[in-house]
Amino acid sequence: MPSDAAPRPPFLPQEVIRAKREGRRLPKADLAAFVAGITSGAVSEGQIAALAMAIYFRGLDLDERADLTLAMRDSGRVLDWSDLPGPALDKHSTGGVGDTVSLILGPLVAACGGYVPMISGRGLGHTGGTLDKFESIPGYVATPDLATFRNVVRTVGTAIIGQTDDLAPADRRFYAIRDVTATVETLDLITPSILSKKLAAGLSALVLDVKTGSGAFMATLAQSQALAESLVAVANRAGLPTRALITDMDSVLATSAGNALEVQLTIDVLTGRAAEPRLMAATRALAVEMLLMGGLADTALEAENRIARALASGAVAERFARMVAALGGPADLLERPADWLPRAPVVRPVLPAVPGTLAAMDMRALGLAVIGLGGGRVRPTDRIDPAVGLSALAAPGDAVGPDHPLCMVHAASEAAADAAAAAVRAACRLGPAPAPRAVVLERIA
Ligand code: URA
Repeated sequence: MPSDAAPRPPFLPQEVIRAKREGRRLPKADLAAFVAGITSGAVSEGQIAALAMAIYFRGLDLDERADLTLAMRDSGRVLDWSDLPGPALDKHSTGGVGDTVSLILGPLVAACGGYVPMISGRGLGHTGGTLDKFESIPGYVATPDLATFRNVVRTVGTAIIGQTDDLAPADRRFYAIRDVTATVETLDLITPSILSKKLAAGLSALVLDVKTGSGAFMATLAQSQALAESLVAVANRAGLPTRALITDMDSVLATSAGNALEVQLTIDVLTGRAAEPRLMAATRALAVEMLLMGGLADTALEAENRIARALASGAVAERFARMVAALGGPADLLERPADWLPRAPVVRPVLPAVPGTLAAMDMRALGLAVIGLGGGRVRPTDRIDPAVGLSALAAPGDAVGPDHPLCMVHAASEAAADAAAAAVRAACRLGPAPAPRAVVLERIA
């Protein structure tokens, strides 16, 4: 049939790169073709790097970011949870130090009637990874097959697992090239990278925990606001109802940082042995947003009451225990954590050089101290030591001295403990403490 429409020229990656280099908008079809080429290998590494650099300097508007997000989502499998009797809800965190939120949030929202298929990551840079934390539990299978994942989500209400190779594969190749071509640090590419994986997970709604402060990926409030606004705007354009909370990562959220130590802390909170007020304030605030977006509560007050009842009744602890067991971990982890979680051979206090009041901690430096102990990776292929880390971390405003350590260090050797202790001391500043910052600093809907 003859058509009046002008024929589309053949797809040439170099023309897409040239258009962006000259500052032109990229049509949806060109972004889709380029992403298809990333996935199939038809677009070369050099061409991907060149487009990333052109975008780095020329940017993408919100519609282009949404088009790129959807194209990357469609580069692999897109999960469908429409057969569940309730909403499929998830949280994404931009990453922090001692950020134990996910371990509690998944079971919490499940205990309130939601379904949380949480696909989490490994530690990145100085930040910890939820997947590494769960892998410190003996037997826990963090990358189950799809049928097991679906079954655990359906029967327990939550499964926290690792990224599978078939979700948004274009992002994997694109990110690996960005990583070695200095093109990671732009919202225009960070936004589609994060959201393509979340959209591929087939969610009904998403809440974002965008951290700010010395331990965050984005250290300043202005940078965190810009990231949160970009993520919320693009996710909603791409059809995924999304809200963001900007939360403080300038001081400790939970009092432990390290893989098995954070699992132990989660168990202590869920069984009532520890309170961890800052961690729970962030977790409850994120859960409120998930219940509201999932239609599981009509008002924030109703959501808060439901959350409080779930925590007090032991229902959250029960969901956590069932999820661990269903994914291969010990059935009695909550009753006998000390029998299962790995323990470091050297555990000792880190004392300040002089007594005083803790004014501030450089959270990034603390995260790097955990990596130095072997609790995180320097290279993606490194094995981590799940037992090491820091516990009983002091918070700004706390008195510290001979009887009040800055923290306890858990190390594989005396030498590693010495190095970590020096790093922790260097990360701490003594003096008058500033007024404590709220945990939730802003909400972007
Ligand atoms: N995390 C991601 O998944 N992608 C980015 O580009 C940056 C952080």
